[in-house]
Amino acid sequence: MLQRIEKDGHTKFFYKDELTLDIHFPELDISQLQRSFDFVPYDNYYDKGSRYRTTSRVEITEEGYKLLPKVALYQPTYVNDIDSYGGIDRIYADVPISLLQTEAFDTMIKCWLEQIPFEVKSFSVHQIRTTDSGNPTPEGRHKDGTDWTGVYIVRRHNIEDESGKTKYWIKDEEVVSEVVPEGGLISHCDRYFLHCATPIEKKHPDEPSFRDVFVLTTPEHGLNREQEEYRAKVLEVDL
Ligand SMILES: [Fe+2]
Repeated sequence: MLQRIEKDGHTKFFYKDELTLDIHFPELDISQLQRSFDFVPYDNYYDKGSRYRTTSRVEITEEGYKLLPKVALYQPTYVNDIDSYGGIDRIYADVPISLLQTEAFDTMIKCWLEQIPFEVKSFSVHQIRTTDSGNPTPEGRHKDGTDWTGVYIVRRHNIEDESGKTKYWIKDEEVVSEVVPEGGLISHCDRYFLHCATPIEKKHPDEPSFRDVFVLTTPEHGLNREQEEYRAKVLEVDL
């Protein structure tokens, strides 16, 4: 059912001729993106620790990327049913404005948007750092409730090579299971796939360990609450 095609450095998955998932490595200066994680704040909503994050809504304008007014992150419980996490309003700091002005950010966003078959005028960007032997997706296998999501692997520092693996399923069939290295951008049409990342494992005990990723979503998360019912229906796609 799912057709996998390798072409021009891209791994693409098609479902009935529709592009549903793309993995490739944009050409950009990754150090500009890595630096933006230097002060990513602790996630106070997650009581098991090992988690740091920011969340922003961003508008694409002729003059560049502009932060939209802060709106709480709300994930319906059908997306995330962790206590004190899903189904509530969470307020996070914004991404650093200096990040939005880098060439690397612009390239990452454009490479993600190239995979999406409609025009995008705004999106959400989440910086997520998982530390120690934490779990990047504590909610387990899930859908995001978005139209399209992007995950860019910014840094894997002092973690075991086989840990922090990216996994995708269509229904119960596993279609992707690989360690996407730093610099990899995964773009996917959310309604088709369940996905998760496996826990990371610290390598050297006396050195900090972490995995940094950007998660990009369209639509931006300010619409999650008003579209809650509609988005639940979209996820019920019959494959
Ligand atoms: Fe997700």
